[in-house]
Amino acid sequence: MMYRSQVVGCGAFLPETILTNHDLAQKVDTSDEWIRERSGIEKRHVIAANQTCSDLSYLAAKEALAAAGVDASLVDCIVVATTTPDHPCPATATRVQEKLGANRAFAFDVQAVCSGFVYAVAIADNFIRTGQAKYALVIGADTMSQVLDWKDRTTCVLFGDGAGALLLKAVPETDDRGVLSTHLFSDGNLYDALYVDNSVATDNQRGYIRMQGKEIFKNAVQKIGEAVEKALEYNKLTADDIDWFVPHQANKRIILGVSEKFNIPMSKVVLTIDQHANTSAASIPLALSVAVNDGRIKPGNLVLIEAMGGGLTWGSALIRW
Ligand code: ACO
Repeated sequence: MMYRSQVVGCGAFLPETILTNHDLAQKVDTSDEWIRERSGIEKRHVIAANQTCSDLSYLAAKEALAAAGVDASLVDCIVVATTTPDHPCPATATRVQEKLGANRAFAFDVQAVCSGFVYAVAIADNFIRTGQAKYALVIGADTMSQVLDWKDRTTCVLFGDGAGALLLKAVPETDDRGVLSTHLFSDGNLYDALYVDNSVATDNQRGYIRMQGKEIFKNAVQKIGEAVEKALEYNKLTADDIDWFVPHQANKRIILGVSEKFNIPMSKVVLTIDQHANTSAASIPLALSVAVNDGRIKPGNLVLIEAMGGGLTWGSALIRW
């Protein structure tokens, strides 16, 4: 029997401390106006000194389990998409497993930078489809503040910290609610467009994000467009069929570009970039959580998610909520 992955719970966690654009203008030569105009960001949350990626992941996952009314002991698989694990090894997902007491699960991390959540959904969906997991927790969590060079105004204004989680459940494939498709892509020729500049092979130094912002921007609408087209074609749907477009929140101008390309009205786009900035792998599940909790996303809605990030990596997923 083949299964489908149905979303049965959604959760999120944002650390308490908020940094506004005005706060950043005290640290580097920038302004609220510049940041808003170029990116759409107004503020971002950042972790406290004693918080880590697994803390954020755990709290988001706990909320997703509670929303579903499912006990952690029933979870078969935990996937954490992150670029900022607690440690280079072992996987942050195993720390989350321990904190949740999800003792029967297998747990591992996925590294696809800002596309990580789409990759993690695709991986968990494959375990569920083939009957290897009944309940899968898919978490996107990043503490980008730990890899930001706070003296580099071209990067430090763009990112924030947070976590979001979905609980997926195996239901018979005949049920039309669930993950309908996932499409993943990468192009290692653009490896240098966004990377963290330390290496486990050469040193133990702390690394910082280095980014060719224009290169990323140039590729974004085209590559994301490709992923969205694939999702629509595969499901024989058009952009008009989409109820909610929940893109990775990297830059408002990129989101507007993709929405315009597919004629998706802004009333159907979930935007959180202003409040959260770019939280990397966390941005999509955070945005999903906002739109579920405020009543926008309802069971039966067709939800399109997409992301592009370092690698470069990119992808899309269509979910009948
Ligand atoms: N405050 C004020 N001025 C700034 C700042 C800042 N924070 N940062 C750069 N500037 C200056 C530049 O030095 C430049 O000055 P100059 O003209 O005197 O040289 C000027 O502003 C314009 O800079 P540009 O880089 O041309 O600005 P642009 O319009 O390209 O916007 C940005 C920059 C926001 C980074 C944009 O290129 C972008 O969003 N790119 C995509 C980045 C992205 O999405 N990254 C994440 C995707 S991957 C992932 O999610 C991990």
